Amino acid sequence: MASSDLENNKVFAAILVAGIVFMLAGFVSNKIISEEELEEDAYPIEVAEAVPAGAPVVEAVAEPIADLLAAADVERGMQLAKACAACHSFDRNGPNKIGPAMWGVYNAPKGHVADFAYSDALLATGGTWTVDSLNQFLWKPKKYAPGTKMNYAGIRKPEDRAAMVKYLQTLR
Ligand code: HEC
Repeated sequence: MASSDLENNKVFAAILVAGIVFMLAGFVSNKIISEEELEEDAYPIEVAEAVPAGAPVVEAVAEPIADLLAAADVERGMQLAKACAACHSFDRNGPNKIGPAMWGVYNAPKGHVADFAYSDALLATGGTWTVDSLNQFLWKPKKYAPGTKMNYAGIRKPEDRAAMVKYLQTLR
């Protein structure tokens, strides 16, 4: 009985050692695999965490407003124009102020007022004031025309830019 106990102990010890070796091997290989996986996944996971769902996306260009124009509110545009009125007149034959007169600006060439000293930065953008160019300029003037004299942060909401552009379209 004593010798069979010893045999049992040997068998038990062998199984135990095998088990430990097996576990260690598994642990080590897991670690290698998980480190490899981490290297591959680290960057995408970081991005996913940096921009949680529903967070405002940092845009490189203004959201288009063409589809918002039909529903845009001219009255709202007039209200918003109060923020521009320190620098711009909006009346027919209105004067230049710190900025050029706004009458007739829509569809006109950039720098549409003959007797206003525009920055080269604004003139260099070329072309005319369309829905799209006004949208980009009014979103972030200094991004659209780096070096512009227009010292104004911009209109953040697409709906507000649409209302502003719709109002500018009426100044003719
Ligand atoms: C602090 C003064 C200031 C404010 C506020 C301001 N502007 Fe201007 N704006 C200017 C100046 C100065 C220019 C000429 C920019 C240049 O030459 O770089 C300009 C140019 C423009 C032009 C181009 C005109 C052209 O003839 O090419 C448009 C359009 C315009 N502004 C619209 C607006 C609107 C709309 C607002 C309000 C949401 C606004 N601005 C607010 C000063 C201002």
